[in-house]
Amino acid sequence: MQRIDLLLTDCRAATMVPGEAPYGAIEDAAIAVHEGHIVWVGPRAEFPDLTPVNTARLGGRWVTPGLIDCHTHLVFGGDRIGEFEARLGGATYEEIALAGGGIRSSVAATRVADEAELIKRARKRLENFVAEGVTTIEIKSGYGLDLETELKMLRVARYLDGDVRVVTSFLGLHAAPKDQDRDAYVAMIVDEALPAAKAAGLVDIVDAYLEGIAFTPAEVSRLFDKARSLGLPVRLHADQLSDGGGAALAARYDALSADHLEHTSDAGVAAMAAAGTVAVLLPGAFVALAETKKPPVAALRGAGVAMAVASDCNPGTSPMLSLRAAMMLACAQFRLTPEEALAGVTRNAATALGLAAETGALEAGKLADLAVWDIERPAELSYWLGGSLLHKTWRAGVPIVSR
Ligand code: NIG
Ligand code: FE
Repeated sequence: MQRIDLLLTDCRAATMVPGEAPYGAIEDAAIAVHEGHIVWVGPRAEFPDLTPVNTARLGGRWVTPGLIDCHTHLVFGGDRIGEFEARLGGATYEEIALAGGGIRSSVAATRVADEAELIKRARKRLENFVAEGVTTIEIKSGYGLDLETELKMLRVARYLDGDVRVVTSFLGLHAAPKDQDRDAYVAMIVDEALPAAKAAGLVDIVDAYLEGIAFTPAEVSRLFDKARSLGLPVRLHADQLSDGGGAALAARYDALSADHLEHTSDAGVAAMAAAGTVAVLLPGAFVALAETKKPPVAALRGAGVAMAVASDCNPGTSPMLSLRAAMMLACAQFRLTPEEALAGVTRNAATALGLAAETGALEAGKLADLAVWDIERPAELSYWLGGSLLHKTWRAGVPIVSR
């Protein structure tokens, strides 16, 4: 008789495995975990002859895959509270950026902060996500904009891997420094900083910001060509403030994801569908910037583009410390269904990070990343704005939050 480490029972499971039942739901489920992986999921009545070392009876609670926040700028120095106030006084994000504020002001504060300080402050932010069921989080560089600080940010991000799994994105093309020749800057990022970060094992994905106030398609293509030659996948901040053809460019490079997409055209949607590029929707930035143009959700849905939802936690455009808040806003503002929102922070978020084989659904073979909730229905996770619904989390079979 085969032994297993842990059996979860007396629970309902939203497996998020596509199929007939909404949420891939199983009433009265059993979930067997062995050596960090799920080895069996199904109706308890069909549970095979496995002997658990430990059993967790969950009092009828819902179990979902551990949540995945696939787009954050969690590591940064300083804050941008003054900019928030300036915008409320009438200034726009672009005006602030062009005047040398915005991303560049976070760059100045991140350059002077030492690693210990950045770790302390990012960890404090991370605790909020852990407390609401996040077991995987993506963290970008991009507030360094010089070789040394970009690497420092990525080291800090790697250091935070622990209770949650951290995936890093190199975002050297986030804002062009004002005091430096543009071409020289792009060359430094493409030819020096990215190879150095890759050699140090600090990069999982390469990201860039394609926008009028940021980088051009030609500059982004240079970076993506280098990423390809280094064997690294890419993703892109695309079409956030204007239609820069970002979605189509991302698709041309078989990007894992294109993110924001408020201004993406039908052609961009079609290109993403053909390439299998995930659409990452970021309602926090949409709300904080009081935008009015929404991403083309109906077109994305119609074309079969997988949609993910993320917090975009950053000091400028999305001071958001809750992935569940992003789920609620994705429903309320972008008209996702609660099931789409949950898929957006589990299965589709895993795909956006290149982790679909490992996590994002409750099925045999995947890591045992599990979140247990005090809710009556899975839709409740997208229904409340704020509040604490989590009962318990496991990352790869290891318990994280216990109350
Ligand atoms: O995802 N769009 C560019 N990057 C961030 C904003 C970063 C900042 O303003 O500091 C975003 O919204
Ligand atoms: Fe971003």
